[in-house]
Amino acid sequence: MAKSKTHYVCDSCGASAPKWQGQCPSCGAWNTLTEQQRPATGGPARQVAVGYAGEAPQLLREVTDEAEARWPSGLDELDRVLGGGVVAGSVVLIGGDPGIGKSTLLLQASASLNANSRVIYVTGEESLRQVSLRARRLGLAAEELGLLAETAVERILATARDHRPKVLVVDSIQTMHSEALQSAPGAVAQLRETTAALVRFAKQTGTAVFLVGHVTKEGHIAGPRVLEHMVDTVLYFESDAGSRYRIVRAVKNRFGAANEIGVFAMTEQGLRQVRNPSAIFLSRHAEPVAGSAVFVTREGSRPLLGEVQALVDGASHGNPRRLAVGFDQQRLAMLLAVMHRHAGVVCHDQDVFVNIVGGLRVAETAADLAAVAAVLSSLRDQALAAGTVLLGELGLAGEIRPVPFGEERLMAAAKHGFTRAIVPKDNAPRGAAGAIDGLRIVPAGRLEEALEALF
Ligand code: TYD
Ligand code: MG
Repeated sequence: MAKSKTHYVCDSCGASAPKWQGQCPSCGAWNTLTEQQRPATGGPARQVAVGYAGEAPQLLREVTDEAEARWPSGLDELDRVLGGGVVAGSVVLIGGDPGIGKSTLLLQASASLNANSRVIYVTGEESLRQVSLRARRLGLAAEELGLLAETAVERILATARDHRPKVLVVDSIQTMHSEALQSAPGAVAQLRETTAALVRFAKQTGTAVFLVGHVTKEGHIAGPRVLEHMVDTVLYFESDAGSRYRIVRAVKNRFGAANEIGVFAMTEQGLRQVRNPSAIFLSRHAEPVAGSAVFVTREGSRPLLGEVQALVDGASHGNPRRLAVGFDQQRLAMLLAVMHRHAGVVCHDQDVFVNIVGGLRVAETAADLAAVAAVLSSLRDQALAAGTVLLGELGLAGEIRPVPFGEERLMAAAKHGFTRAIVPKDNAPRGAAGAIDGLRIVPAGRLEEALEALF
């Protein structure tokens, strides 16, 4: 009897079974068996042991260190997130909610990359007519762009081998399948197999490959976690519900800094780059309002102004609520405790809501002082002094700790017209030489000092 080409491997212990079962016969884990292709012949151990002359290792100094080739995508915001352009032979996975603009972004980038190097855009979701209609509607100069409506990875790679594109876009990985497997497109085994085939192709031929990925309800790229390990770069395309602004964020990048972001606005003419993103993360109030404070964060390599808003309101019953969006909830609880202990601010009979404007997510501690200021401002129903920006991490002892790149952040604040900065003592520019034009610096070593300077 011919042996089946596939078998089922347990994700957790690696045992193999000829048929699918709900429970792994070896380790007893549930729902961990996934279909995989059998290795061609013999076990890997045998292949290595017999008849292979090992290759000599290459010395480090012999490895050329010339910079890898990069091509501009025509979208500076995307290039920055990629670490300075599209890298030859790299594989980029870009995830995001349906309708957020993944296809639009890659079609725009493809059109502009295609001006200098051949691009093939593979669509498994839309018809060629739909793609071409969109390109026309966007007014893209893409008459020469190669399109392919195909979902079998073997045939996509055959086309790519014949036509040798520099860039291959696959929209989306969840619609692709390998003919060697029986499971449906989108199944874990299919995702792993098709991604592996595309990664191999990219490395062998130096083709840059973009993979579009759907995300789950929880916001992760649908499929096994290994998908993110297999590729070089993982980007997430995000937006605030209902907002037209879109943020592309690098969460992993072998060719650049992680956490770099690019900002776009979705318009009638497709995605437009937002070159001065600080402006969109501040809600512009005609008059200063209570419960709002501005800070300077860093996203990747650039400073970015953000606004934290707080609403403090009498709790109607029992446990007061602490809710934070875009800000770490645990950290908020901790800041409230520090405020109570070191500044006598009582919130335990109050609901406290904190939100970062514009869908920004703050992952660093430099916004602590601004969050505290917003809470106090809402509690007292009193706006902060106009033109104030705050920087600083708050310690459990009530001390204010310095933040990295203080000067750069202060310059960004001055550039956006802020006139007064409450900063950690250690971040205060020293002497006249360090002064920043138009910005009055209020250094604070402890929470009490900072709060005194707020209003
Ligand atoms: P799309 O790129 O198809 O999203 P994804 O591939 O992530 O699912 O974007 C579709 C949405 O974008 C759709 O709701 C319409 C909107 N859109 C515009 O507002 N302007 C445009 O020029 C384009 C092409 C799309
Ligand atoms: Mg799409």
